[in-house]
Amino acid sequence: MGENSGWLPDAMSTVAGEVDTLFYFTMYVSTIIFVAVVAAMVLFVVRYRRRKESDVPDPVHEPRWLEMTWVVLPTILVMIVFTWGFRVFVDLHTAPPDSYEISVRGAQWFWEFEYANGVTSPNELYVPVDKPVKLRMTASDVLHSFFIPAFRVKMDVIPDRYTSVWFEATEVGEYQIFCTEYCGTSHSAMLAKVHVVTQAEFDEWLTAQNQDLPPAELGAQLFSQYTCNVCHVDTNVGPRLNGILGSTRRFTDGTELVADESYILESILNPSEKIVEGYGMQMPSTFTTLSQKQLDGLVAYISTLE
Ligand code: CUA
Repeated sequence: MGENSGWLPDAMSTVAGEVDTLFYFTMYVSTIIFVAVVAAMVLFVVRYRRRKESDVPDPVHEPRWLEMTWVVLPTILVMIVFTWGFRVFVDLHTAPPDSYEISVRGAQWFWEFEYANGVTSPNELYVPVDKPVKLRMTASDVLHSFFIPAFRVKMDVIPDRYTSVWFEATEVGEYQIFCTEYCGTSHSAMLAKVHVVTQAEFDEWLTAQNQDLPPAELGAQLFSQYTCNVCHVDTNVGPRLNGILGSTRRFTDGTELVADESYILESILNPSEKIVEGYGMQMPSTFTTLSQKQLDGLVAYISTLE
């Protein structure tokens, strides 16, 4: 078991097989008991139904062995599931001491991964294969929940508190990360990918992230990684950013201003300061953790949008 059965996604971490075996055990035992109970019920209804008006049932004296059986057997089954489940629970919650640590931040509506050397990677988690990885997670705004189905790990991500998950990926590949707790308008777009790569590829990727890109290129990368386009280009959740530089923006308080680079920067860092007429206060103020270089890049890129 633990192979793909059509029920569950392929099991791709060291703990996934154990989780699946326990799941199938519980499911098969429940199915067998369910079928046996329903079959006995149908049989008894037919066989012992009242046939005549004058039928009066005999008083029932259950044999002791039967009473004992249906007390003892379910107790044993429940204890098996409990001890087994507890062991898997402990395994799932105890990261090996040599785990590679990555910080995770959940925010409306993206996942941000930060590595020990300061590299941040929005919505793309790179991890080495066959190595335990521990994620230290927190949220900037509201409750989120971090879920990688292929690894069978899932944990709430909470503001002002740390939670964690750990896993050891067993095969190179690309797997889906979901947010599984409703967290506002674009909850369903709060998707990320985990890329499981070889140790060599991982080291190479981590070094390459420090590369100096021209500001507008860095900005373009961040714009799509933080999914800014979901609200500002693809839909009308936030004001359109195309041709923003030099355009006149009117705000809800009646004032107006010709958009320049400082206005763009202010709107990224403190979106509630000036709200464009016709829009609500939707944008999360979660971008204050970006570095100056990243902010410069975003401003440069947004200024070029046509
Ligand atoms: Cu974050 Cu749902």
